[in-house]
Amino acid sequence: MDSPANPGADEARAFDLNAIGDEFLENPFPMYRALREHAPIHINPDGTYFLTRYDDVMAGYRHRAMSSDKKVDFKPKFGGGPLYTHHTTSLVFNDDPYHKRVRKLLAGAFSPRQLAALTPVIEDIVEKMLDDVAEMGSFDAVTDYALRLPTEIIADMLGVPEAHRHLMHGYSNLILGALDPIVPPAKMAAGHQAVEEFGALLADLIDHRRKHPGEGERGEVLAALIFGEIDGEKLSDEELVQNCIFLLNAGHETTASMVGHGLATLLENPVELRRLQGDPGLIEPAVEEFLRLQSPLQIGHRKATEDVEFSSATIPAGAFIHLCIAGANRDPEVFDDPENVDIGRDPNPQISFGAGQHVCMGNTLGRIEGRIAIGRFVERFAKMRQAGEKRYHGRAKFRGLKTLPMEV
Ligand code: HEM
Repeated sequence: MDSPANPGADEARAFDLNAIGDEFLENPFPMYRALREHAPIHINPDGTYFLTRYDDVMAGYRHRAMSSDKKVDFKPKFGGGPLYTHHTTSLVFNDDPYHKRVRKLLAGAFSPRQLAALTPVIEDIVEKMLDDVAEMGSFDAVTDYALRLPTEIIADMLGVPEAHRHLMHGYSNLILGALDPIVPPAKMAAGHQAVEEFGALLADLIDHRRKHPGEGERGEVLAALIFGEIDGEKLSDEELVQNCIFLLNAGHETTASMVGHGLATLLENPVELRRLQGDPGLIEPAVEEFLRLQSPLQIGHRKATEDVEFSSATIPAGAFIHLCIAGANRDPEVFDDPENVDIGRDPNPQISFGAGQHVCMGNTLGRIEGRIAIGRFVERFAKMRQAGEKRYHGRAKFRGLKTLPMEV
């Protein structure tokens, strides 16, 4: 089903997340607007709920009767294969107490001390990337720039050796792509294989770090995850591997989308670009605005464990709910002139990092990466320009650019 350029009430009521077409993948925002206006608590033909208003999405994230556990819901999609093991073992798709145990263990990786140690690492990587694109002159801002930083950072955190780093983007793409509403069989098979291959690589790294605990380079957190204990319990090998894979997925594609979208938004809004170049201190609110306008994770999910009241309807116990962060982030009840970019927007209570118990653990790290990668880019390249058509990689849940040709 393709969504028309300006959908209205009829199109909103007929919306089917399982039948979205290319036009929606290219630009879902007109449909999100129509849903917010005409069907804010929309029921898809498969009986699942799709929420687009800010207050409802926030309520969904914060309500205590909302489960993240996907052991039942992922069974028909993934069977019993590696993708099932991966997604149902990662903390994000679990409830407490398991979720809380893993979250506490990972917390050290995102402590202020760890982030302070990572900041100069990020600055060094960004300077090197800037030198490289300056030398190229003409390049793809997604593959040659945006994707490189988070890949390096997470590879450093997990201690992945140089020789294997080029594989990580492909793994993450396949594992996250399998979460989309529509997944062709070949892609599903490749997703299963990606979990197996990356899992085997991580198992080797974990084994090595167990034998040589003190050898981690700067920024590495693997030893803390291997040896850390909560209430006398360590993570099992399977839990370790799957949550390390999750760290790559969680922090890599999303951060790259933020940087790619940030640069594209500035190229398309030259007044805002000049504003930022004239006042580099605006980089903090600018990054919040890029996150609001183009949420890297557009849609989250929960299951109601009891009847829950939302703004205009009660959703029954057992219902599967899609929480549309991207729709909420453009709700005119909360944001003035929401379809347009204002890099100085204040206040900007965007919710691209989610909310509640599962709020993104990497939100400060992601913000630091965004500020340095985008801020340094526009400072260094006063004459940056677009050199071809940008294209999206065509996924509904994790929305990002596949390519953004640029010249500096
Ligand atoms: C712009 C970048 C990022 C965005 C937009 C983003 C977005 C999100 C969102 C929306 C969630 C909540 C999922 C849910 O409640 O179902 C989440 C969870 C998470 N994110 Fe991020 N993320 C980003 C960067 C990162 C980075 C850099 C890391 C780490 C390297 C990271 C690690 C995590 C973890 C561990 C969770 C799971 C938290 C839990 O379940 O308790 N994220 N992220």
